[in-house]
Amino acid sequence: MRTQVGIIGAGPAGLTLAMLLRRHGIDCVVLENRDRAYVEKRVRAGLLEQNTVDLLRKLGVADRLDREGLEHHGIYLRYRGANHYVDMTGLTGRHITIYGQQEVVKDLTQALLDRGVEVLFETGNVELHDIETDAPRITYDHAGESHELTCDVIAGCDGFHGVSRQTIKDHITEYDYTYPFGWLGILAEAAPATDELIYAWHEDGFALYTMRSTKISRLYLQVDADDDIANWSDDRIWSELSTRLGNVNEGKIFDKGITPMRSYVAEPMQRGRLFLAGDSAHIVPPTGAKGLNLAVNDVRLLAPALTDLIAKGDKRRADGYTTAALGRVWRAQDFSNYMTQMLHDLGGGPFQRRMQLARLEYVARSEAAARSLAENYVGLPAEPDF
Ligand code: FAD
Ligand code: DHB
Repeated sequence: MRTQVGIIGAGPAGLTLAMLLRRHGIDCVVLENRDRAYVEKRVRAGLLEQNTVDLLRKLGVADRLDREGLEHHGIYLRYRGANHYVDMTGLTGRHITIYGQQEVVKDLTQALLDRGVEVLFETGNVELHDIETDAPRITYDHAGESHELTCDVIAGCDGFHGVSRQTIKDHITEYDYTYPFGWLGILAEAAPATDELIYAWHEDGFALYTMRSTKISRLYLQVDADDDIANWSDDRIWSELSTRLGNVNEGKIFDKGITPMRSYVAEPMQRGRLFLAGDSAHIVPPTGAKGLNLAVNDVRLLAPALTDLIAKGDKRRADGYTTAALGRVWRAQDFSNYMTQMLHDLGGGPFQRRMQLARLEYVARSEAAARSLAENYVGLPAEPDF
């Protein structure tokens, strides 16, 4: 088999890249190792920057997002038992939208299949070959048979644990930081008891009140990195959430899990004819909700660069892809780290806790500090194509 771009991974990065390439008239095939139902049910992010929503609209995949997404205009920072509103729209003129990542994935997958783009689920033993040549290959198993896909370019959109980055690990520099805590996340059948998201600083640790709809709440608790979900009964979860967040509406918990937190960047994000995008190249801690938005921004830049390379033989933008993408990646690293360090119990004792409160009070009192947080949170306007 032959295609122009072999895309590994049907997450937000891979699927959005496929939609963009199709618009540019470039052929692609998406290979995903999980089954479709699993990918469409995997619960993760929920907060979309305006940049992300604008791109999904441009691609014609935002009808349901426009109907069901919840527009948000600010957040509450909670500390010392009181909520302090940060008016994002007042400070920046921009807003954010709550719409589950798995809904974005469902919409993109359906749109690609409707347009005849091949998305192959349950592909096993994916391996990359000859990436230093003009005809890189992917070998994989599908439906009980071995296959080979020859491409002009391979896009490694296979997340943090994928194979693509491993293929070039001897040629990249890794910047890494692992936090000594994780997030326990739940989904519950309960109307949110808040109009906007609440990011809470508490003596017991961080908590976040977010939502998926007017009937479904999503809540997170800071827990130890090596904690086991079996230690957390529903009663214990609700009790800790109401301690940290104040008024919480309880309901049936239908999803729960613990996610580790890390910061990671691979540089460069490309080698030969392999280009990495999204979590395969970088991870941010979730405080600030940048991961999915960064993945979408990477492919917004990658699609025109690959089009120039394949359709015109012009390498300039492809060569500049890493530099173009990394500006926003490092900005998001700094912002996600700032939010994480300000709100979590970092284990540094009472002095550190007081410093965090001083920072929170500064954001609540100073318009300049609040505006800086707000412009990062809603996302700086997307850079023009480079
Ligand atoms: P992924 O979504 O990981 O997709 C990679 C795909 O590749 C997967 O489908 C995987 O199955 C597939 N794959 C892996 N290996 C192979 C292989 N060998 N062969 C074929 N396929 C393979 N981000 C935000 O922007 N906002 C938020 O509110 C937010 N909240 C979060 C909350 C939590 C609890 C977590 C865990 C993450 C959150 N994130 C958030 C981060 C966000 O979910 C990720 O950044 C996003 O999923 C990245 O998309 P991606 O397409 O790069 O990678
Ligand atoms: C959500 C996740 C985040 O990490 C965040 O900062 C805000 C919202 C969410 O899942 O809705």
